[in-house]
Amino acid sequence: MTPTLTYEKMQELSERSDHNRRIVSELEPPLKELSKWETLPALEVGNRDGGSAIVILYYLQQVPRTWFTTVDVTECPPLITEWVEKLGIPHKHWKMPQADFMEKHMNSTNGWGFVFLDADHSQATCSADIRKLAPLMERGGMIAVDDVNDWPTLPEFEGLERVKYEGVDQGSFTAPSHGQHICYWRKA
Ligand SMILES: C[S@@+](CC[C@H](N)C(=O)[O-])C[C@H]1O[C@@H](n2cnc3c(N)ncnc32)[C@H](O)[C@@H]1O
Repeated sequence: MTPTLTYEKMQELSERSDHNRRIVSELEPPLKELSKWETLPALEVGNRDGGSAIVILYYLQQVPRTWFTTVDVTECPPLITEWVEKLGIPHKHWKMPQADFMEKHMNSTNGWGFVFLDADHSQATCSADIRKLAPLMERGGMIAVDDVNDWPTLPEFEGLERVKYEGVDQGSFTAPSHGQHICYWRKA
């Protein structure tokens, strides 16, 4: 069956910049694995205009039971509202800072399957949030964090294991010292 959102359309909608060419190729490996799940609640913190959200939605449409949560200090962009409706994916956007969401609403779902942190990129904030999210992840669920290239080290988290996907295209971007822009941690 042809998916409602075709791969070509997803690429067209997402790949408006070099930044998003990288995002597509880096987000795909975990999402390909997770799209085989029966139930997959997904969260994106920092959605901007929806360039990465459309990649996530392409894979979520293949999951029988899913819902999508987005968080940003800005309004939900039209690209996301349009496509969650077309794909029939339940969606909630929280217009608020990352810190408020983490404090008040991150446990709005029991068992996140995929979380993408792309808002506050500091190591301190992301590490603290990953520690809070870890117990709320479904086993095998994945936390992806963008722009870890400025982090001096990649920390370890209790209950999570780091996953490194070989062959992820770094495009024209300079690879950071530890070789990754997006890092993935899987709930063990
Ligand atoms: C790098 S952009 C996200 C790009 C998007 N994920 C993509 O790849 O197409 C970062 C976004 O995070 C939001 N943001 C930055 N700091 C934030 C914070 N502390 N809380 C919530 N949103 C934040 C910005 O408004 C912006 O939309």
